[in-house]
Amino acid sequence: QNARESLYIVSEFAASYFANELWTGNDGRAIGLSYFKERGFREDILKKFQLGYSPDIWDALIQSAAGAGHKEEYLEKTGLAIRNDKGKLYDRFRGRVMFPIHNFTGRVIGFGGRTLKTDKNVPKYVNSPESDIYHKSNVLYGLYHAKKAIRDLDNCYLVEGYADVLAVHQAGIENVVASSGTSLTTEQIRLIGRFTQNVTILYDGDAAGIKASLRGLDMILEEGLNVKVVLFPDGHDPDSYMHHVGSGEFKKYIEENRRDFILYKANILLKEAGTDPIKRAGIIRDIIESIAKIPDDIKAAVFVRECSNLLQVEERILLSELNKMRVAKL
Ligand code: CTP
Ligand code: MN
Ligand code: MN
Ligand code: MN
Ligand code: MN
Repeated sequence: QNARESLYIVSEFAASYFANELWTGNDGRAIGLSYFKERGFREDILKKFQLGYSPDIWDALIQSAAGAGHKEEYLEKTGLAIRNDKGKLYDRFRGRVMFPIHNFTGRVIGFGGRTLKTDKNVPKYVNSPESDIYHKSNVLYGLYHAKKAIRDLDNCYLVEGYADVLAVHQAGIENVVASSGTSLTTEQIRLIGRFTQNVTILYDGDAAGIKASLRGLDMILEEGLNVKVVLFPDGHDPDSYMHHVGSGEFKKYIEENRRDFILYKANILLKEAGTDPIKRAGIIRDIIESIAKIPDDIKAAVFVRECSNLLQVEERILLSELNKMRVAKL
C-alpha cells in the first residue's frame, strides 16, 4: 500500500466518521443535522454528498482514528490533525458541519468545514490544506456527482460555494460544480473542458461575485470554452435564491436570465458608466478585450457583430480595435 493510498484511506475514514456523527451523534443530530434542515436541505442531498459533523472536542477524530488503527502520520499529512508547538496533536475541524471534497473518481481528498456560529471573528469556512492527494487548483467541488450530467447536458454550471452545489442539485440540476477554496483557475477550466465546452457562471449577486464573474469569464474564453452568465438579484447566491423562490421558480429564473457574456458584461458596465460618453467608449474597449481572448477567429467575429449591434458601433471600428489588441498580445 503506497503513501498516497494511505492518505485516501484516512480521508475516507474521516468522511465516514463525520457522517456517522451527523446522523447518529447527539450533537451531530441536534446541532449539525438541524442546521442543514433549517437551511432547507433534504436528507437525500445530505447523504449523496456525504455531509457530516465534526464534534466540538479537541481530538474526537484523532481518538476515533486511533481506535480504528489509523496512523497519526496520515492524519497530519492530510491536515485533518495539526501538531502544535508543544508536540500535541489536535483536530483541525471541530464543531463544524463537514463537506467532504471528492476527486472526480469519487475518492475523498479533503474537507471544507462550516462554522455554525454567527460570530464575525470565526472564519466561516475552514478548509483542508494542500496535501499529496489534494491540490486545490486542480479540484472542482461536486465534479464526481456532476460529470455524467455535464456530459449528457453538454453544459456545466459553475457556482462559488459548497452550499450552492447542494442547492442547485436539490433543484434537480445536477451539472454543477464549484471552484471552492480558491478563485477559479485555468486548470479547473481545463478539467471542465474534458466534459463540455459550455460553461454557465452562477456566482453570487454581490460585488465580489460580479467581480469574480468578469475575471472568470475572461479565463474561460481564453481556454476556448463558451461562457454564459446568470446574475442573481439582491445579493442572493444560488443557494439562498433557490430556497427563497423554490426549485421550479429557480429553474425558470436560470433559463430566463442566462445571458451570453457580451450582454452580461455590457449590462454591468453600462450601469456603472451611465451616460458619460468617455466611459461608454471604455466599455466598448473592455468588451473587445474579452472577445480578443477567444482563440477561434470565426467565433470572435460572431461576437464582434453582436457587440456592434448591441452598442451601435460600426463593426469595422470594433474589428480594428480587436486586431490592435491581438497584435499587442503577441
Ligand atoms: N470560502 C472559504 N473560506 C471562507 C469563505 C468562503 O473557503 N472563509 C469559500 C467556500 O468554498 C465557500 C465559497 O468560498 O463555499 C463562497 O463563499 P461565500 O459566498 O461566503 O459562502 P457560501 O458558499 O455562500 O456559504 P454559506 O451559504 O454556507 O454561507
Ligand atoms: Mn459571496
Ligand atoms: Mn455565497
Ligand atoms: Mn453566503
Ligand atoms: Mn450561501
